[in-house]
Amino acid sequence: MIKLENIGNLVTYNSISGLMDTLKDVEIIIDNEFILEIGKELRNIDSVIDCNNKLVTPGFVDPHTHPVFLNSREDEFHLRLEGSTYEKIAASGGGIRSSIFDIRNADIPDIISKLKSRMDRFLSFGTTTVECKSGYGLNTESELKSLKAIKEVNDYHPIDMIPTFMGAHAFPDEYEKNHEGYVKLICNEMIPEVAKQGIAVFNDVFCEKGYFSQEQARKILNVGKKYGLIPRIHADEFQNSKSAEIAGEIRSISADHLMMVSVEGIKSLYENNVIATLLPGTTFFLGKSNYAPYTKLKEAGVEIALATDFNPGSCNIQSMPFIISLACLYLKMNILDAVKACTYTSAKSLMVEDTIGSIEEGKKADLIIWDVNKIEEVSYSVDFNPISSVIKNGTEVFTA
Ligand code: NIG
Ligand code: FE
Repeated sequence: MIKLENIGNLVTYNSISGLMDTLKDVEIIIDNEFILEIGKELRNIDSVIDCNNKLVTPGFVDPHTHPVFLNSREDEFHLRLEGSTYEKIAASGGGIRSSIFDIRNADIPDIISKLKSRMDRFLSFGTTTVECKSGYGLNTESELKSLKAIKEVNDYHPIDMIPTFMGAHAFPDEYEKNHEGYVKLICNEMIPEVAKQGIAVFNDVFCEKGYFSQEQARKILNVGKKYGLIPRIHADEFQNSKSAEIAGEIRSISADHLMMVSVEGIKSLYENNVIATLLPGTTFFLGKSNYAPYTKLKEAGVEIALATDFNPGSCNIQSMPFIISLACLYLKMNILDAVKACTYTSAKSLMVEDTIGSIEEGKKADLIIWDVNKIEEVSYSVDFNPISSVIKNGTEVFTA
């Protein structure tokens, strides 16, 4: 057993009250992987971690990342500065499709080595659970290879990786003139094989002009459902494609991006209990200013999660503390709502909120010991990472 002593402030979602708590001068006893007790002046335990009167929060749960790629795409960042856009770059052969060649030609050990160092970096920013999408293979062999790489890293890395199949990320060049043929390949070959191998929990589709239509998204997500893959969707990112409405109709667990969501789309999310996962890092990294309408979503009663969307094209950001700063500055979230969105609600969007996402007795001991005293300092520390140590499943896995 380990005891965390001298915790100045403990900030966590409380699933009994449904509110965020700030507890002062409490201690935590960890038994193996789990939180055994939280309270004041607990019994003595031989093994102690001194938190130096600093802040303690749950580990972050990042519910939307694309970490299985090889090449970086900094050229696109600079093309955008010269006046191009994500959509124009994609239409001229860049974007997602330009990451396909490398993954198709890579051996699994090369993919694993990149993926492993990215997972180390996530952990250093306090992320203890991360959703990981495939989607840079776009044929059966390379999608399976990507998911296999996720599984292999997850088997030995301290971070928890939750796999999502995203064959519907873009149309590969060989199906440029036969989109329906690619949708059939996803539905008739990829999804059944992914399900048979049991190597993905979720199924995600990029529903957007130039990518998958509403009709195609509906089909791919419904076929996935039949095979036990839970739907998620990239919705209304660059245009209003009525994809939030599709998310509601098929009861997707989450609808992500939503920069261009409509009033009807928001209503559909609310009525069907779809979590809105907002990705302010992407809006920022693309140099745009039309952040997702957080206040409207919140006022409509939609539950909100936050994620990095880490990927080589539209968001080369892995730090959840930085995403929290962006959420405060540009979505106008208050700090406690932002912390809830990337711990408890993000765990809920991955359907693991019963075991992680808050510091409560019986839950997994996934914690961050900060190098600051107050939660307000997390978003205020924009250009550095004030984390002292990260505990995953009761073990210290990162120290600054
Ligand atoms: O979430 N929108 C689609 N997918 C990613 C971008 C992936 C890429 O450009 O490589 C996103 O922003
Ligand atoms: Fe994405």
